[in-house]
Amino acid sequence: MKKFPLEPIEKASRKELRELQLERLRWSLRRAYDRVPHYRRKFDAAGVKPKDLRTLVDLARFPFTAKADLRDTYPFGMFAVPMGDVVRIHASSGTTGKPTVVGYTSKDIDTWSHLMARSIRAAGARPGEILHNAYGYGLFTGGLGIHYGAERLGLATVPVSGGMTERQVQLIQDFRPGIITVTPSYMLAIADEMERQGLDPRKSSLRVGIFGAEPWTDRMRANIEARTSLQAIDIYGLSEVMGPGVAQECLETKDGLTIWEDHFYPEVVDPDSGEVLPDGEKGELVLTSLTKEALPVIRYRTRDLTRLLPGTARVMRRMERITGRSDDMMIIRGVNVFPSQIEELILKQKELAPHYVLELSKAGPLDHLTVLVELAPGAADRQSAASLAQEIKSRIGVSAEVKVVPISTIERSIGKAKRVIDKRPK
Ligand code: DLL
Repeated sequence: MKKFPLEPIEKASRKELRELQLERLRWSLRRAYDRVPHYRRKFDAAGVKPKDLRTLVDLARFPFTAKADLRDTYPFGMFAVPMGDVVRIHASSGTTGKPTVVGYTSKDIDTWSHLMARSIRAAGARPGEILHNAYGYGLFTGGLGIHYGAERLGLATVPVSGGMTERQVQLIQDFRPGIITVTPSYMLAIADEMERQGLDPRKSSLRVGIFGAEPWTDRMRANIEARTSLQAIDIYGLSEVMGPGVAQECLETKDGLTIWEDHFYPEVVDPDSGEVLPDGEKGELVLTSLTKEALPVIRYRTRDLTRLLPGTARVMRRMERITGRSDDMMIIRGVNVFPSQIEELILKQKELAPHYVLELSKAGPLDHLTVLVELAPGAADRQSAASLAQEIKSRIGVSAEVKVVPISTIERSIGKAKRVIDKRPK
């Protein structure tokens, strides 16, 4: 493949990067304190001022920001600019209560487009290619975030959005895109639809898939890569911090996601105590924006669990693939279980498909886990239910009832898959 030059900062030394981070961090703290009363109150209550940041380590003295701060100031209370400077508003749907609202100045949109272009390029796409964008367009940041970056990189961008799976397949057949951007769960639905139409997903024009917005496992990657013509690459982001393009896996290493540290300062903290953990230790990812104008976020608690790793393809640090969110963790009879652990075990069973839902209910006073999972196309169900239940028991330590259901029984997501249905009384 043709070489595509990296930006100077992608090749800078750690020292240069840290100097830039410190300078930008000071700017960001000052801006939050001066312009957002909510931040000012929180900093004052914690007894810190922006000038107390002398080195990057001092950031740990500043208070965290959480989703609740955005909710409490709904809709625009955390904005650091007047509405006259805001050119875009997105919101996360939020299953309960009010959505989280985020805003962008035109410079923020420019930064985002730039970082998305950098991300798509790191995933291996090159100007001149066609990109099929099946992330949802609308209040969700996925569709538009990818779109602007793809255009910025010079890709012929097809704004398909999610849904109408038959048409997705038709457009892939006819336009012959090299790149697809979509949630991994919806990619499975697209691959299923190709097969239903008698097409071989291994023979499609697609060569790179940029998958994110929901947790997925390495086994899911292997499964998608075996079934399709794709290299499956991870992309991470969240609306509060920008949207997609906060961190991106590089095609040449496929070893976790490079955090674009010139724009976001990462920390990993102990989810219970909030204490900053050394690189390499697993905990909750906390992000501080370094360049955002409309909505600076200071020490934002993402709830995403990962660890920081040294850079490989770039000098910037990597984060390990996210195994789950602390609020997705199920506590089943006292055992902590993440959906991704069960996904791994499902994908080890050849007779099962990676379409599944986890249902939690009560059997008398006890928690009861039911795994509903589909049979793989063409497979005869012999032992898979019993053998999956046994694996779950021996590897995770919980008893589960496994129900193997016919193909197409589990509702397909067209965006983020909903894996857990908790029917336990609150
Ligand atoms: O999902 C932004 C996005 C769009 C990322 C498209 C990647 C691609 P939100 O809707 O605010 O924003 O949801 C953010 O999704 O805190 C994670 O829990 C989860 N998430 C996002 N990317 C990944 C990933 C978008 N690669 C929340 N792996 C985050 C695991 C992810 N979880």
